[in-house]
Amino acid sequence: MTMLNWMEQELEALAERSLERSLRTVSAAKDCQGYIESGGRKLLHLSSNDYLGLAGHPDIANAMRQALLDEGAGSGASRLVTGNRPPYARLEQALAVWQQSEAALVIANGYMANTGVIAALAGRGDVVFSDKLNHASIVDGVTLSRAEHARYRHNDMDHLRSLLHKHRDKRRKLIVTDAIFSMDGDQAQLRELAELKHEYGAMLMVDEAHSGGIYGARGEGLCAELGLHRQVDVHVGTFSKAFGVYGAYVSGSRTLIRWLTNKARPLIYSTALPPSLVAGISASLEIVQAEHWRRLRLREGSRLFRSRLAAAGLNVGAGDSPIVPVIVGDNAAALRFSSTLEAEGIAAVAIRPPTVPDGSARIRFSLSAVHTDEQLADAADRIIPIASGLGVVPR
Ligand SMILES: Cc1ncc(COP(=O)(O)O)c(C=O)c1O
Repeated sequence: MTMLNWMEQELEALAERSLERSLRTVSAAKDCQGYIESGGRKLLHLSSNDYLGLAGHPDIANAMRQALLDEGAGSGASRLVTGNRPPYARLEQALAVWQQSEAALVIANGYMANTGVIAALAGRGDVVFSDKLNHASIVDGVTLSRAEHARYRHNDMDHLRSLLHKHRDKRRKLIVTDAIFSMDGDQAQLRELAELKHEYGAMLMVDEAHSGGIYGARGEGLCAELGLHRQVDVHVGTFSKAFGVYGAYVSGSRTLIRWLTNKARPLIYSTALPPSLVAGISASLEIVQAEHWRRLRLREGSRLFRSRLAAAGLNVGAGDSPIVPVIVGDNAAALRFSSTLEAEGIAAVAIRPPTVPDGSARIRFSLSAVHTDEQLADAADRIIPIASGLGVVPR
């Protein structure tokens, strides 16, 4: 069979199961925060990770513009060669202060941070304990590391304990978790994970991709909000979500950062981020720390939206974050839900396997501090009858 033949056949099979994906172009709506434009229409944007509404912030754009003029468009080399421009040192110092850690390291994005860090911390003969709902970049990191992959049932600490016990004699043990689960919006059991890490002499790595900027008095994340940041050995976060920019960081001990500088392959073998981007992240970090009102606003809006949907009988999961899933189950039904919402002026994308487990296709609503209570209440009032019409409400 030729390459085109087998690809077409397999794509056909994906399409039949309502699992084919395709790219579409969307733009930020002009002068209208919280909306996007797609196919010539303005849609309320309930599918973005721009949680604090910073992606369009003029101070960030200005910092990027200035660094672009000062340092040029590209960094020209990896950081260990000659790509380590002045904005990096400024940002990494500020990150360490923000996280109250000894040191921090910027890596190109969250996917590369997770894969690079896990593969640098564990190898053949080691074991990585990972929640079944952890992000794909964590799963891929474990595969790359060649360590044994011990996946525990979602947030099931008894299951994790039994796996830790089974592997207690392994050379190195790493427990890794999302702080807020990306497709469910619920929290990891961070206190219990910290206790188990101590009990079994494991390392603990927490990915704050969906909690950085949102939790903690200065947006440090969920570990800090719970007073647990000192229990975490490896703290990873991304700048592509609440920070509204792009890129990622790791923070922890000086020795950890020295180790990663020598061993994290995505850092070593990939060109440094453009200096303008790094300067933009620094500007965003200042706003994230200073503008607590964005976190409060996001929380209020999330509470209102979530409680309206739940009161109507929709299954919105167990979280309290701005990620509000409405579980539909069937892939085709989730796609129908999404296209009906779009016809009603709401952009909310259907999330299907393998991003979520089979049989749990959903609409993942994600909210932003720029949404007003009126917008969210009005959206909920339009979502509920659509869900009822499609038989999504379990009554
Ligand atoms: C939990 C989690 N970790 C890591 C990533 C990857 O981050 P980035 O988009 O910066 O590559 C994502 C999503 O993109 C995520 O949801």
